Parts: sequence; structure tokens; C-alpha cells
Amino acid sequence: MPILPGPRLSPAVQLLHHPVAIGPFTARGNLFLAPVAGYSDAAYRAICRAEGADLCYTEMVSSEGLTRGHEKTNSLLERDASESEYAIQIFGAKPEVMAEAARALAPWKPALIDVNCGCPVPKIVKSGAGSALMLEPAKIGKIVEAMRRALDATGMASVPVTVKFRLGWDESSINYLEVAKIAEDGGAAALTLHARTRAQGYSGKADWHALTNLSASTRLPVFGSGDAFSSIEARRMLEETGVSGVMIARGAMGNPFVFSETLALLEGEVGQPPTRSRRIEVARRHLELSAHFIGERQACLEFRKHFCAYTKGEAGGASLRAEAVRATSIEEFGLLFRRWAEFA
Ligand SMILES: Cc1cc2nc3c(=O)[nH]c(=O)nc-3n(C[C@H](O)[C@H](O)[C@H](O)COP(=O)(O)O)c2cc1C
Repeated sequence: MPILPGPRLSPAVQLLHHPVAIGPFTARGNLFLAPVAGYSDAAYRAICRAEGADLCYTEMVSSEGLTRGHEKTNSLLERDASESEYAIQIFGAKPEVMAEAARALAPWKPALIDVNCGCPVPKIVKSGAGSALMLEPAKIGKIVEAMRRALDATGMASVPVTVKFRLGWDESSINYLEVAKIAEDGGAAALTLHARTRAQGYSGKADWHALTNLSASTRLPVFGSGDAFSSIEARRMLEETGVSGVMIARGAMGNPFVFSETLALLEGEVGQPPTRSRRIEVARRHLELSAHFIGERQACLEFRKHFCAYTKGEAGGASLRAEAVRATSIEEFGLLFRRWAEFA
């Protein structure tokens, strides 16, 4: 990416990008791609990693599916050879199943295993998993403990268990500090807070004060999630809240460049937005990688949403997107890439 020489920032700001020790595992840096269902697959993670993400999370994977060895569940765990390490997130409501699922992850060699305590989707919540666990903090402790015990007993002592959670179920039941303490006591090695309640879903503003509070109240590394949409916001979250790392979800959709831009900014340089040809090159690579993993047709169906995100705000984007939602082959997308390149 071309970098313009920018203003030199203070050493304190430059130190915002640093390795993070998560139990026995050390992430090379503190800029993460968040777990995002329907997005964080092998191809997308490889693209984000190539753009500078220090660690990428899989989307949430069913603990029940893992223990039953479901093929579809296992396909979520594939990764590209270029992604030398990754974090696997699992969801479930039963400590013993979560423990067995953690054990079942041994062949995938995760750098860490994260527990989803934030998913607001009704189907997940009804099963007692995801953000429903915020209503049962003691169970979060039991899940972490059971996973920790299972990993220690099966030669996976070096794999940390971490927890991603919300502020609470709703405004009247904010309990993130209690959940953090319980997770820590259960053996969690790091905490990620998506600073919204379950009731908020993904709307409203994330409460970054809560990130500051949590960082000040625990010895564990805290990663912040919520509203770091751009490099400037990612840097601001690190500067203002004292979190050990920042997780980016929606800001990376169609914009994996947010990682290289943030890295540049944290290094005291001003990263330029990618040129159109670079955007196209990366989007094309994304589709090709995806086809490698899931086959051409499925990759094209999945890539429609990525294409829409990559072309957001681009000249001629609306007419390209209208056609992309019908594209079923790499050849058809190839035509769209060529037309995109030609828009003045
Ligand atoms: C479509 C979508 C899918 C998501 N899937 C997951 C998931 O599988 N596991 C998880 O912990 N969070 C999931 N999240 C939440 C994100 O990881 C993140 O915490 C949230 O979007 C706030 O960050 P952002 O403002 O950077 O988007 C998802 C969010 C979106 C929008």
C-alpha cells in the first residue's frame, strides 16, 4: 500500500501496537479480525491477515456440531497455509459439551479458543448459548473451568480459553464486571467486551467507558469490540480506553485495508486509502481463495455480499451490485471486475 509520509506521533502513540500475551500464547500484535458469522471464513481471514490483521477469529462454531463431528461444522475450521495461527470461537450452553468440543479442536491447532457469550440471535439465545449466558454468569465460569480442565488433561495446556461477552442482557442488568471476574476465576486468559447489551443488538453506540472500566478492573488483557470502523477509530479506542487490543468486525467488511491503514496510523504514518485497482485485485484474490476452499459456485454465492461491501461508495457501484447479486461464476464476476476498473 502506498504510504504518504505523515506527521510523526509520540512514542506513546506508536506503542499502541504491540504483542499481547494471552496466557501461554503471544499474539504478534493487537489488531484483530472479530468473529463474524457468515464472513470470517478461511478466505476472508487470509485476506485480512495479508492486510495486517495480527490474529483472526473464526466465526462461532457449534460445540454440539464439533462433538458430533459434523462435516459442515468442521468446514468452518479450515484455514489457508498463509494463516499461521488463528483463534477459534465456539458456542454452546453445556459445560461438558463445550469441554468436549474444546478437546475435539486439537487437530486444528488453535492459538486460543474463545467462548461466545454475546450472540443475540434468537435461535442461539433460545438454546441458552450466546448472550443468554449473560443471564447465568455462574455458568460462564463453569464452561471456562470445564474447557480449561479438558484442555489441560489432553495435552492442550498451552491453548488459552478466552471469553467474548456483552455489557449485559439489557440496560437494567449490566453485569460485565461480574462476568469478567467469574471468567477470570474460571481460568480465562483474556476477555473481549462488545460494549453493547443484548437488547441493543448491533445498534446504538458502543459504550467505550465500559472498556475503560473493564481494563482498569482486571489483570487480564481486554480486547475492545464495537464501533472501531476505521483506522482513526481503532487508534482512538486504544488511546482512550486502555484496552490491550482492538477487534474490528463491520469495519473490515469489503475493507480489509482497515488493518493496513490502522497499522500505518499506529506507526505514525498516514496510510492512503487503496487505489481502485488494488481494491479490485484484493477482491478478486478473495473470490479465488474462496473458490479454492468451497468450490466455485458456493464461493460466488457467498462472495455476492463481499462484492457489495467492496464496491460500497465506488463509482458505478450500484449498477455493479445489481448484477453481482445474480452472479454464479468466476467468469461473471470477472466481467464485473473489468467494468468496475473502467468506471471513470
Ligand atoms: C453479521 C455479524 C455476525 C457476527 N457474528 C459473530 C460471531 O460469530 N461471534 C461473535 O462473537 N460475534 C459476532 N458478531 C459481533 C462482532 O464480532 C462484533 O463484536 C460486533 O459486530 C461489534 O463490532 P463492530 O462495531 O466492529 O462491528 C457478529 C456481528 C455481525 C454484524
